[in-house]
Amino acid sequence: MPDIRADGLAFQYPDQPPLFEDLTFRIGHGTTALTGPSGSGKSTLLGILAGWLRPSHGDVSNLPSRTQWVLQSPIGSPRRSALSHVELPLLAAGALLQDASAEAYDILARVGLDAVAERPLRHLSGGEAQRLMLARAMAAKPELMLVDEPTASLDATSAATVIEVIHALADIGMPIVIATHDLHLADACRSRIEVRR
Ligand SMILES: Nc1ncnc2c1ncn2[C@@H]1O[C@H](COP(=O)(O)OP(=O)(O)OP(=O)(O)O)[C@@H](O)[C@H]1O
Ligand SMILES: [Mg+2]
Repeated sequence: MPDIRADGLAFQYPDQPPLFEDLTFRIGHGTTALTGPSGSGKSTLLGILAGWLRPSHGDVSNLPSRTQWVLQSPIGSPRRSALSHVELPLLAAGALLQDASAEAYDILARVGLDAVAERPLRHLSGGEAQRLMLARAMAAKPELMLVDEPTASLDATSAATVIEVIHALADIGMPIVIATHDLHLADACRSRIEVRR
């Protein structure tokens, strides 16, 4: 897939001062951190990359249509196992149960959750649940993954496990864009875009 390119991007909510002006960047495969102070427009920029918001100036080219979000608070079925959360998108895409299970295990192993595959979501720690959300998003095989503040609601120890996984995904075949305040997380990414007013 060609790099996503933004040229001279600016954004302004109605009756508000401009959030950012003249942002130019490329996003290739692997992880890209979006950093900047609170309120600088990181989530807004994710919304532009998702195709939900139109920039006020400039344009984005090569935006893929199949985008997957990973939200800050893990959402799933509390009583269902970690494994079944990752199987579901594979089954929805037409895989047989046996194949879906095997592939879901592989994906869980990538995020360090193979040992807790059978555990229900409600018994996972915060860091485990957040990694499960990454695994589920990967199982949907999107062309672009958008992750908003994956460590914001975690204590330092849980955040470290998420950062380790992000580090391991640095060169994955699809682009993963991660909005974050966390400089350790940003350092674990392959590249970085700074959003500032
Ligand atoms: N729909 C909206 N209408 C008007 N202003 C908005 C809207 N959504 C967000 N804003 C404002 O735009 C600014 C940027 O918001 P955004 O959520 O993109 O920042 P952020 O960098 O993600 O911040 P944080 O690090 O706190 O998550 C904020 O001042 C916010 O209040
Ligand atoms: Mg935000």
